[in-house]
Amino acid sequence: MADFTGKVVLITGGAGGIGRETAQQFLDRGANVELWDMDKSAGDKLVKKWSDEGHKVHFEKVDVTDFDAVKDTMNALQDRWGQLDILVNNAGITRDATLKKMSPEEWKQVVDVNLNGVFYCGKTAAEVMREQESGVILNASSVVGVYGNFGQSNYVATKSGVIGLTKTWARELGRKGVRVNAVAPGFIETPMVDTVPDKVLEKLKGQTPLGRLGKPEDIASAYVFLASEQAAFITGTVLQVDGGLVF
Ligand code: CAA
Ligand code: NAI
Repeated sequence: MADFTGKVVLITGGAGGIGRETAQQFLDRGANVELWDMDKSAGDKLVKKWSDEGHKVHFEKVDVTDFDAVKDTMNALQDRWGQLDILVNNAGITRDATLKKMSPEEWKQVVDVNLNGVFYCGKTAAEVMREQESGVILNASSVVGVYGNFGQSNYVATKSGVIGLTKTWARELGRKGVRVNAVAPGFIETPMVDTVPDKVLEKLKGQTPLGRLGKPEDIASAYVFLASEQAAFITGTVLQVDGGLVF
């Protein structure tokens, strides 16, 4: 099992879904974890639970769409822990609608969180990692960023964009000892898929060779692998974790 003792891991959107499970897996492997999320009540509860269990964990209420807040909180993180080894750029939202019905507001909200937020957190984290000459940045893409999806113009644009950012940052940061990869999950059982009609989910299971939706653990394990020394020669890649889904 990979050991992250003494490593500092920042997880955006870490108070729920895939982010929370990713935090759990890093904590189980000895890491110190900082969570950024809008949901303070969920974040505070997790910190209490995990601190009581003896883990080193910290929560900050941060909106990743606010560049000044991201910059200030990244400075505070550096003061608090003295280093940043791994960023899991995970915060994301959906506002699904067909192209016909999607409002400019729904377009902008999703671009703001899923693309601007990823850029702001990646940019400020990279500053710390460049100075250290080490670090790993992991970005949350999606299978729909690879294939497209009915009703998700905004979300798909951001998740394809994240693939471009990943490949670009891998080129820029490799010589500074920083690896950058993306994970493209299939449909995973979290609150995010609650908005998907049941008949769409059933159809998706039928198109998945492994015959089920994914679980947050499936994605957390991929982040842990890509952050580990076992992935020391992997950068600029997109790991699809989707049960073989083709649609
Ligand atoms: N493929 C083909 N046709 C589809 C379709 C699909 N996936 N989804 C809907 N349609 C068709 C409907 O059958 C309907 O056809 P008719 O007009 O001929 O009856 C038409 O499109 C309109 O559908 P709705 O009545 O559902 O229209 P709506 O405007 O109320 O909603 C929608 C449209 C928002 C796209 C809704 O169908 C929806 O939410 N679909 C799911 C979108 C989705 O997959 N989101 C993924 C969220 S999870 C996630 O994003 C995580 C990740 O990374 C994978
Ligand atoms: P989720 O909705 O369960 O959790 C997302 C978390 O992000 C929440 O805790 C939320 O409060 C936080 N968040 C939202 N906006 C924020 C903001 N502006 N600033 C800070 N935090 C914010 O979602 P889930 O399913 O855990 O998804 C995590 C990531 O994985 C997202 O980027 C998502 O797009 C991606 N993903 C999810 C898939 C799925 O099927 N669930 C599939 C493919 C990708």
